[in-house]
Amino acid sequence: MSTATPERLHRETAVVRCLDGDHTLVLTDRETVAERLLRTSRKHSFDPDTDVDWAAPQDPDVFYLPPVLASLYETPLWEGLTHRQRVELTRRELCSIASFGIWSEMLLMQALVQHAYRQRFDSGHVAYALTEIADECRHSVMFGRMVRTCGLRTTRPNALQYGLGKFANTVYDPLVKFAGTLVVEEFTDSFQRLTFPDESLQPMVRQVTRIHVIEEARHIKYAREELKRLVATASAPRRRFAAAGLAHATKLMASQVVHPSAYAAVGLDPRVARRAAAASPHRRATMAWAFRKCTAFFEEVGFLDGRARGIWVNAGLLE
Ligand SMILES: [Fe+2]
Ligand SMILES: [Fe+2]
Repeated sequence: MSTATPERLHRETAVVRCLDGDHTLVLTDRETVAERLLRTSRKHSFDPDTDVDWAAPQDPDVFYLPPVLASLYETPLWEGLTHRQRVELTRRELCSIASFGIWSEMLLMQALVQHAYRQRFDSGHVAYALTEIADECRHSVMFGRMVRTCGLRTTRPNALQYGLGKFANTVYDPLVKFAGTLVVEEFTDSFQRLTFPDESLQPMVRQVTRIHVIEEARHIKYAREELKRLVATASAPRRRFAAAGLAHATKLMASQVVHPSAYAAVGLDPRVARRAAAASPHRRATMAWAFRKCTAFFEEVGFLDGRARGIWVNAGLLE
């Protein structure tokens, strides 16, 4: 009698030819993955309206993000700030990241609709894509409410990013979209995994980030499994071209994730502050750390192959 589990029966392997040799990927059947993720979604989903204490008092001396995640931490500019200014900077940076989160979730929701539109509507794969869209809808509403509860308004990406986002919505390119999803989800996940368990931070922020970490874990799984399937059938030039394009977009995104108004609010020249953050060894190490799971996975599936790796390294996002 066979001892293989039903899931094992739905696995196969694919070989991706990279410049540094062959990479073998284990592919799991789409429906098997989808059913598992749907089960998790049924068990672990939240309603931010009732699962976050929006009225929790906000102590003005309590940080909104762990200070180590502030873009200027350990720079001379940070040393020159008072405690209250440092708290203010973390409040502004948190809301910048949340605004960026809403923008990227809007792009992801559109990509998931485009993806689901092309599949069998009654499949588990589509049911899960629609479930994920519902998750992202709640997240975007939750992030908007968090920003307002912090006493601020959301910021917009700069004109170039905003325009690129609009253009990206006009094309269906799952290879780039699922890889881009991982870039954003793995990066924010690293920041949030450091935030929600930290009892010295604002309670409301801890609750919001906890919900996001739990619900995003399945999104990351879905994107990873889909990206492996897509990479397995893409030609090497197509894969390398997509990987290099995404590396450029990531470099742009990482440099813009803190809105200039965050620096101005604590009396700093935004251009000087942005340069200080870009040159800071601590910040570079933090960003490379935040992307480490994403870059390790990209390495595995041949998405750092070719020019992409150099772009990631040059951007300070890969050591
Ligand atoms: Fe989300
Ligand atoms: Fe997500």
